[in-house]
Amino acid sequence: VTLDGFIADPDGDAGFLPWEGDHGPAITAEYPETLPGHVADAIGMAIEPRHFDTLLCGRGFYDVALREGHPDPYPHLRTYVFSRTRGPSPEPNVTVVADDPAATARELKAGEGMGIWLGGGGTLAGALRDEIDVLLIKRYPYVLGAGISLFQGSPVPQRFEPVERRVFEDGVELTTYRR
Ligand SMILES: NC(=O)c1ccc[n+]([C@@H]2O[C@H](COP(=O)([O-])OP(=O)(O)OC[C@H]3O[C@@H](n4cnc5c(N)ncnc54)[C@H](OP(=O)(O)O)[C@@H]3O)[C@@H](O)[C@H]2O)c1
Repeated sequence: VTLDGFIADPDGDAGFLPWEGDHGPAITAEYPETLPGHVADAIGMAIEPRHFDTLLCGRGFYDVALREGHPDPYPHLRTYVFSRTRGPSPEPNVTVVADDPAATARELKAGEGMGIWLGGGGTLAGALRDEIDVLLIKRYPYVLGAGISLFQGSPVPQRFEPVERRVFEDGVELTTYRR
């Protein structure tokens, strides 16, 4: 997220957020499962999930991966794509869900397994706000001015407690908040 709370520009492009610097390797070491499969392949890394075994994402998030030619962008995570317009996915690891994301999240949380990663985007994050237990916010030292917010939807103040904060040499901050 930028300093002013955006995850992408108004056209959905988040490519201006840099991968370079010391934050990338450190975050990848702690959360290897947040690396897309094709990126891991390119650097010869075998991903062993440490925190999450499931990804929840909105159709907007998934469309970015599809446009780039990755219909199963996180093959090491079972992936749920929320969409009322997209039909079933031919990918065995990707499930398209048209139902209420909160109900699906509650069902998954009640099951066995590791953590569930809400990958975004902002519209899905807005729909799942009440189901979030932990926020891991990677904040980049950039101001954008307009774009897609971290949480889209109605303005409802909700407090989260910061429990851990790491500042990298490149100016990126990773803060963990709990509800
Ligand atoms: N900076 C970052 O780390 C980061 C991370 C993730 C994403 N992003 C950016 O975020 C952008 C996408 O965000 P976004 O807010 O536009 O889209 P999004 O949240 O990824 O997806 C929105 C879509 O999800 C579906 N959806 C949302 N609520 C739903 C509900 N209640 N029930 C069923 N389906 C529901 C709808 O799909 P249908 O219209 O098909 O029904 C909706 O159009 C991308 O451009 C990406 O670049 C950035």
